[in-house]
Amino acid sequence: MKNARYIVRPVEIHEHRFGNEPLCRLTVTIHQLAEALGRAIDLKDRYTQNHSEDVAVIAHLIAKAMSLESNTCDMIHIAGHLHDIGKIGVSDQTLKNEGRLSDDQWLEMRKHPMLGYEILKDVNGLSQNGGIADMVLFHHERCDGSGYPEGLTKDAIPLGARILAVADSFSAMIDDRRYRKGRPREEAITEIVRCSGNLYDPQVVTAFLNIETESKDWLASLRFRSGERHMAGVSGGGKWNCGREKQ
Ligand SMILES: [Fe+2]
Ligand SMILES: [Fe+2]
Repeated sequence: MKNARYIVRPVEIHEHRFGNEPLCRLTVTIHQLAEALGRAIDLKDRYTQNHSEDVAVIAHLIAKAMSLESNTCDMIHIAGHLHDIGKIGVSDQTLKNEGRLSDDQWLEMRKHPMLGYEILKDVNGLSQNGGIADMVLFHHERCDGSGYPEGLTKDAIPLGARILAVADSFSAMIDDRRYRKGRPREEAITEIVRCSGNLYDPQVVTAFLNIETESKDWLASLRFRSGERHMAGVSGGGKWNCGREKQ
């Protein structure tokens, strides 16, 4: 098993050029591809539609609030789109289970981070230590070691994965699922704060609380999807305008 590292090294993504194409063009293409793959996995279940996109945006905002460098924020955004890509290898019976998962189904579900890693690990530029493939692999790790697949703790979990964990949990809490209604945003925030230090990195939670004001309108709009998606409605938001950007 890989050794997780804290460091996110985004430069390799820019070392792969197509001839003389500008660097940003490749990044945009990778982003669009990640978005398409994320949408594909979300469409397997109508209750998770837009989930990957929401995680991408929330994680990006958190990364920016932590003053991470721009390329790192971009990588975390792309990892948000891809974080559940491994669910493509989970059976529909398990994914669409109406009630509690059986032990076998739960075991199957817990494989999705590793499956996602396996899908992405051979893509140069995504597979560096702490990079996108590692963020996908470790997005269900928790600071107290209660997560999976490896039960890593604190800084042993890549920073990007710790950010995804908060964004993913928040998105999952406020969204409806077939077996429960989504929780009010304020309640979900309270739960994130309650679990700060145990499940979630306190620094990430602090940044999450800082972006809450900035992203409030956008988060509220999640329930009324219009044509304007993603960062478009976020004041001071990033450059991503998913599904709308042109090369
Ligand atoms: Fe997941
Ligand atoms: Fe995006």
